[in-house]
Amino acid sequence: MGAEPYYGPDFGLLHRRDPEVAQVLLDELDRLRGGLQLIASENFASPAVLAALGSTLNNKYAEGYPGRRYYAGCEVVDRAERLAIDRARRLFGADHVNVQPYSGASANLAAYAALLQPGDTVLAMELSHGGHLTHGSKVNFSGRWFDVVAYGVRRDTELIDYDEVRELALRHQPKMIICGATAYPREIDFAVFRGIADEVGAWLLADVAHTVGLMAGGALPSAVPYADVVTFTTHKALRGPRGGGIMCTRELAARIDRAVFPFVQGGPLMHAVAAKAVAFGEALQPEFADYARQVVANAQVLADALAAEGMRPVSGGTDSHLALIDLRDVGVTGAVAEQRCAAAGITLNRNTIPYDPEPPTVTSGIRVGTPCVTTQGMGTEQMKEVASMVAQVIRNPDAVGEIRARVTALTEIHQIYPSEL
Ligand SMILES: Cc1ncc(COP(=O)(O)O)c(C=O)c1O
Repeated sequence: MGAEPYYGPDFGLLHRRDPEVAQVLLDELDRLRGGLQLIASENFASPAVLAALGSTLNNKYAEGYPGRRYYAGCEVVDRAERLAIDRARRLFGADHVNVQPYSGASANLAAYAALLQPGDTVLAMELSHGGHLTHGSKVNFSGRWFDVVAYGVRRDTELIDYDEVRELALRHQPKMIICGATAYPREIDFAVFRGIADEVGAWLLADVAHTVGLMAGGALPSAVPYADVVTFTTHKALRGPRGGGIMCTRELAARIDRAVFPFVQGGPLMHAVAAKAVAFGEALQPEFADYARQVVANAQVLADALAAEGMRPVSGGTDSHLALIDLRDVGVTGAVAEQRCAAAGITLNRNTIPYDPEPPTVTSGIRVGTPCVTTQGMGTEQMKEVASMVAQVIRNPDAVGEIRARVTALTEIHQIYPSEL
């Protein structure tokens, strides 16, 4: 405590050259350090990951793949990409990995491009039940260019309705089925999806953008043995740089690679590729399995403690890093809850709950996630305190001053980016 925090590679230089931008970095660090980050899709990448991101690999054009580039001078960056690929293959036991996607959305675009033609039918999870924009939303390429049929969760259990998935698959004969979600707290049964895909001759795409870190740490079952293609992000629970990736079977390797480049993308972000290699290396360490297990344990205690405060977790709890909380019994919308928590230094997002009567701008729920607080070293005891703070400030906005003080007390003990690394 009291030590100067880590600001990123050569922060002093940036401060001298461009104090305005340096101030933005400082203010963001203050915001992170002074509050609680419960956004389920965020994490705090390690200083080693940030160092790779802030490196001269940013400068290199390397269209193509290691050993087969369209530019000269790629022999050094090739090593970064080979390291990233080898480590990801070891981490996930995948036949083939493409580490070039700029993000989860571009990984999904490439997966569609590799397997489908515009107009093909896709079966994917309904956005308002937890699916992602790239799984068929009309405002996204997926909904505009493909004929997307949506499955959802059951009203009574709030779990994926696998019978409905099968019925819809038999009726619509999709060319691809997508499993994986943005706001679904429970384990997904990839084997059941595989069986349905086989029954109708569809490709199975598992989009594990959210849960790939838990898969890496063995805290959730892997999709790799079941799906033809697995897309993921590297910046959520996996704790790497912002970016995406694709794993697939050996048979699909060439199709996936051609879809990423040259179909969807141009030059890969080699600094991000190097940072992905660092993150995969970190995730291969035994400590990462402890981290992944703790993320889930923390989410479970957080969900249970919020339930004890009268805030109902959708589906009764969680198997993962996030919980969806239905606030209707409290009489506060998700939007108001988000604002009240933000005022106390607790960052979380409003979220639709299945069959939500409110529109997405308002919502009846919030989504809370534990990757960040777990990286800060918090455990289940701290989750009870977090739940108590969230519940109190949502119910009583007048408590904001007291809750802010409690947030500060907690974050002073569990600091992020201290100088002693
Ligand atoms: C399931 C899923 N797929 C894809 C994405 C897109 O990732 P990105 O924001 O990196 O494009 C997300 C992001 O939240 C996601 O949750």
